[in-house]
Amino acid sequence: MSERPRIVVSRWIPEEAVKLLREAGEVWVSEADRALTPEELRDAVSGAAAVVSMLHDRVDGALADAAGPCLRVVANVAVGYDNVDVPALAERGVAVTNTPGVLTEATADLAFGLLLAATRRLGEGERLLRARRPWSFHLGFLLGTGLQGKTLGIVGLGQIGQAVARRARAFGMEIVYSGRSRAAAAVESALAAERLPLRELLRTADVVSLHCPLTPDTRHLIDAEALAAMKPGAFLVNTTRGPVVDESALADALRAGTIAGAALDVFEREPEVEPRLLDLDNVALSPHLGSATVETRTEMALLAARNVAAVLSGADPITPVLPT
Ligand code: DGY
Repeated sequence: MSERPRIVVSRWIPEEAVKLLREAGEVWVSEADRALTPEELRDAVSGAAAVVSMLHDRVDGALADAAGPCLRVVANVAVGYDNVDVPALAERGVAVTNTPGVLTEATADLAFGLLLAATRRLGEGERLLRARRPWSFHLGFLLGTGLQGKTLGIVGLGQIGQAVARRARAFGMEIVYSGRSRAAAAVESALAAERLPLRELLRTADVVSLHCPLTPDTRHLIDAEALAAMKPGAFLVNTTRGPVVDESALADALRAGTIAGAALDVFEREPEVEPRLLDLDNVALSPHLGSATVETRTEMALLAARNVAAVLSGADPITPVLPT
């Protein structure tokens, strides 16, 4: 009988997905309550036919070489795959997969929740109460910014961007967007969305929400100059990847009042957060919770497991990532 393929999972995943993986091979799941170090990950993948990776794992040619010639698939449990060197893996004949679709609505919910937290100053209000500071209702107390009739600028009108735009429409917002390519006419008309060059979007939008993937082109897309182009009363929301925003420039802009506020679920050097942001009241923060619902995280892990099972059985991956 031939040996069962070794499947390495770099961090805890829901049991349903482990069960599915066990049908496809011998499963090893890291028990560490943290991301494995690059050295630990290299040791762990030795002899693996499949690796289920997390967005904090660096997956490159060296890691594939550490796994050895049996490696056939890396299933990244995230829609983003900026942590994976896809061309290097393709060169070695290793398939790469991600988890598109299943996290769209959860991430859009979180993006909109953060947008509301920033524009309605929910964090400030909660901090005030928890500090047991005296307060009383009055007409000028903790005033925020309304959304009705305002313009939301979506940078990257993909699935998540569209889901955020749908929510914004329900709040009475107008939609403008920028992106590499024009959205389908049906999408533009359903959202009444107008495509603008990025600079014009930044000048126009009352809230800018980032939904583009992290690539060499989008690293620090929102830098000091971009922030200076935004309206003084505008808000920035980032739920995609931290390095799309120059965090230090953002802290400067928030402190100087160049923009009114920001809401961040992702950070440039996760899990570190720029310390100056932690001291500012006009930024709402959450620790990369975009897809963090029981339902969504289970679906993400199951999709990764199904991708592994497909490739190990000789079938095509379900949601492959192709080298560009
Ligand atoms: C992703 O899937 O890329 C998200 O950042 C994880 O929630």
